[in-house]
Amino acid sequence: MTELMPVTETTAVKATPTLPDAQTVTEVQHYTDRLFSFRVTRPQSLRFRSGEFVMIGLMGDNGKPLLRAYSIASPAWDEELEFYSIKVQDGPLTSKLQHIQPGDQVILRPKPVGTLVHDALLPGKRIWFFATGTGFAPFASLLREPQTYEDYDEVIITHTCREVGELTYGRNIIDSLKEDELLNEVIGEGFWKKIKYYPTTTREQSPKMGRITDLMRSGEAFEDLGVPPLSPETDRAMICGNLAFNLELKEMLEGYGLVEGANSKPQHYVVEKAFLD
Ligand code: A2P
Repeated sequence: MTELMPVTETTAVKATPTLPDAQTVTEVQHYTDRLFSFRVTRPQSLRFRSGEFVMIGLMGDNGKPLLRAYSIASPAWDEELEFYSIKVQDGPLTSKLQHIQPGDQVILRPKPVGTLVHDALLPGKRIWFFATGTGFAPFASLLREPQTYEDYDEVIITHTCREVGELTYGRNIIDSLKEDELLNEVIGEGFWKKIKYYPTTTREQSPKMGRITDLMRSGEAFEDLGVPPLSPETDRAMICGNLAFNLELKEMLEGYGLVEGANSKPQHYVVEKAFLD
């Protein structure tokens, strides 16, 4: 909160401008030359649903805030906020954002919104989280959200990336779930057996190669996962990746008979675009 000061000529000149909605960076981790994650302090008044996004950014050279939509990657109960970002070397925001250090400030508009929320889906047996690249972020939140395991018997997370190193952030989250105190306490030990993680790469050798869309079309993904193709009776899905992926998968899900839902009208699946520079 800004302290009120009597505005005399001296204080008006000397006062350093404080960023509006400033939050402090607490941690930064780099994964590849294209990807990093960071944590910031959470405004006390900020309430959000796991899966939603907010606008964050930095002050631009012209003195105006430069903001982009970022999915909150931390769960709703966490006392800090986590974000997962691409680095674009000539991107207006991420060319600068990639250099933040603990102690620096970022701007965060505390108005969370988004469609990748449990409220937008009808009850089901199995939930699919489909991600490419940094589209993993909202699922990093939802995978740490107890409601995900309360609502579903099976939780399938697919992540398609170009290279193996781009899977690290997601894999770390998945690996940490077993030890997650809250989930073990609320859902019970062994909750993680509900999770099926299906990472694939398209441009570097890894145990499972190919786009998830192709692997579903051929039936290979269902065979690997030991589940039948999606059906509106049992399956719910959330999609978050690059635009072409979102559109292609949306069409495929419609082909399985799933209907797109919204906060105001829950259905079988929801889709969000990845927020790239
Ligand atoms: P590919 O390497 O075959 O293009 P990007 O980094 O460009 O956002 O892509 C992330 C991942 O999403 C890549 O592995 C890419 O595969 C994959 N991808 C891109 N478009 C589609 C699509 N329409 N359907 C499925 N996967 C896609």
